[in-house]
Amino acid sequence: MQALGQRLGSEVLSKRLALQAEHAADVFTRRATLFHIENVEWFNVLIYHVLRLTGFYGRGYRNYHDIQIVENEVCLPALPAAFDGFVILHLSDLHVDLDFTFVESVIQRLGDLKYDLCVLTGDYRAHTSGRIDHTTGLMKRLAGHLREPVYAVLGNHDFIEQVPPLEQCGIGFLLNESVPIHRNGDTIYLAGCDDPHFYMTHDLRRARAAIPDGEVVSILLAHSPEVYREAEQAGFDLMLCGHTHGGQICLPGGIAIISNGNCPRRLIRGPWRHGRLQGYTSPGTGSCAVPARFNCPPEITLHTLRRRGQAAGADDGERRPIR
Ligand SMILES: [Fe+2]
Repeated sequence: MQALGQRLGSEVLSKRLALQAEHAADVFTRRATLFHIENVEWFNVLIYHVLRLTGFYGRGYRNYHDIQIVENEVCLPALPAAFDGFVILHLSDLHVDLDFTFVESVIQRLGDLKYDLCVLTGDYRAHTSGRIDHTTGLMKRLAGHLREPVYAVLGNHDFIEQVPPLEQCGIGFLLNESVPIHRNGDTIYLAGCDDPHFYMTHDLRRARAAIPDGEVVSILLAHSPEVYREAEQAGFDLMLCGHTHGGQICLPGGIAIISNGNCPRRLIRGPWRHGRLQGYTSPGTGSCAVPARFNCPPEITLHTLRRRGQAAGADDGERRPIR
């Protein structure tokens, strides 16, 4: 825990541990008096029984396992030549212990996908408190099918205690930290912050501290898009995030009933831009509350980085399901 404190920041770690200890049944955060629907167990049970009684559960469950592979092209003006065509595999909101068979669906969909870097943007556990051993075991199984390097951040469903065992199986966590990514003599930087949704223990200044000033490309992993303003002000070029599930249970046309994030609706799914910051919010590879989805397919995203002017689409990039 001392080592984690040195990485995350000792004050931030203390805050996180205190909130974790108090978290079990909290529906309202003390700091922000924000309502957190994911903490309301009876609501999850209610959704499950409504889907069962109305006969929709089976279809929703099949949708939950029907993971789409989506390509997203990102144009970055300062991208070094060696990174043109660099592919980032993005998984988010796996909630692997919601249904113990789900990891097998993810492994099957990963198949022989080609990528240069894998990132995970938080929420590995289904519940927001309680045991982590099931989550760790299932994530270890998944990690065996991910090509390194693999980098990750924690979400609001995760405890800091999950970090050491997952790092032992090759998933490197970015706890308000950054790493350089090298390719053929060029370098870009990947940073990651702690959960900005519930724990609010993100520290973008600390995450950026080791990134040199000037014309360098930097990518931020954050669990939730809610930190988009800070990310833009901190000078990041691209932010990859999740948390919202795109609504998960949506009206026809993908209209989310619940956005689950304190941010504009245009940020809850897919590519977006805020000032000079480009972002992508994964609708989630997994699901939470109930293993069911409607009008919002689960997703494995392949982000291809392009130098400006070389992408096929517009400057804001292009998102398209490929299978
Ligand atoms: Fe989340």
